Amino acid sequence: MKKEKAKIICVTSNKGGVGKTFITTNLAGVYEKLGKKVLIIDLDLFFGGIAASLNVDGNKSIYHLTEDFSNNRYKHINDYICVYDENIHVLSACRDPRYGNKIEARYIDLILQQVSLLYDVILVDTSHDLGECKLLVLDRSDMTLFIITNDLLDLKNTKSVMSIFKDAENKDYKILLNNSLLPYKNYYTDYDIKFIIKSGVDYTLSSSFYIKNIDNFISRGKIVTLDNPRAIGKKELSKFTNMARDLIGEGSKKGADK
Ligand SMILES: Nc1ncnc2c1ncn2[C@@H]1O[C@H](COP(=O)(O)OP(=O)(O)OP(=O)(O)O)[C@@H](O)[C@H]1O
Ligand SMILES: [Mg+2]
Repeated sequence: MKKEKAKIICVTSNKGGVGKTFITTNLAGVYEKLGKKVLIIDLDLFFGGIAASLNVDGNKSIYHLTEDFSNNRYKHINDYICVYDENIHVLSACRDPRYGNKIEARYIDLILQQVSLLYDVILVDTSHDLGECKLLVLDRSDMTLFIITNDLLDLKNTKSVMSIFKDAENKDYKILLNNSLLPYKNYYTDYDIKFIIKSGVDYTLSSSFYIKNIDNFISRGKIVTLDNPRAIGKKELSKFTNMARDLIGEGSKKGADK
């Protein structure tokens, strides 16, 4: 029986489509390879993509769980969790987006309580809004992975979020610059970005992280880091693995590669 509480990592951004869901599932793959047991919670409550990316049953969901909590019908967390494989489990968002706003933030702590002793790592995928559930998860996470892109609007908005984190004295966040989605748009240097967002970049995914046939993995429900890590490239995969270790406080003394 495990005794230590899981490390909670919240994956977020202030812009949609920056790669949060892809990075979340691929982090899960790396943690599995590192011998960790992982739960992915899909807190993108309206249009969560974890169940669809992994081809797991979206009929069991966080909506059913919170409904049963509120009606005193809850028996065991396993009734709501989908098994991807032995070491990667999923608490999915509701398949019907109309139920997204029925998930109240007060249930988040209850859910975390039920699962934190069962897993080594809990990855929470989010949407780019700042709703109550997400604010609570940001507060409860051991680490937030904040994904940005090389896009001026995104960078300007990131500056506002960074000042919120600083005001809240929240130091438990890391910034990941995802250059794999807009490889043609590398307009700003690291120096420019630091100047715009008033914060350093902790990790960068380069254009080598771009997966040409990504739909092939998604249609089969496969995680690239598990199914075909060569599609990422050795160097990029090693950087990604170092980042995964660093996020749970198991990085090398030198920290993760940039
Ligand atoms: N490394 C990659 N290589 C190629 N395509 C990618 C990569 N990462 C993500 N994509 C594609 O880019 C799109 C956005 O990715 P993803 O859904 O992970 O972003 P997101 O931030 O979770 O979006 P949302 O804010 O809508 O939840 C998807 O179509 C996905 O398949
Ligand atoms: Mg997503």
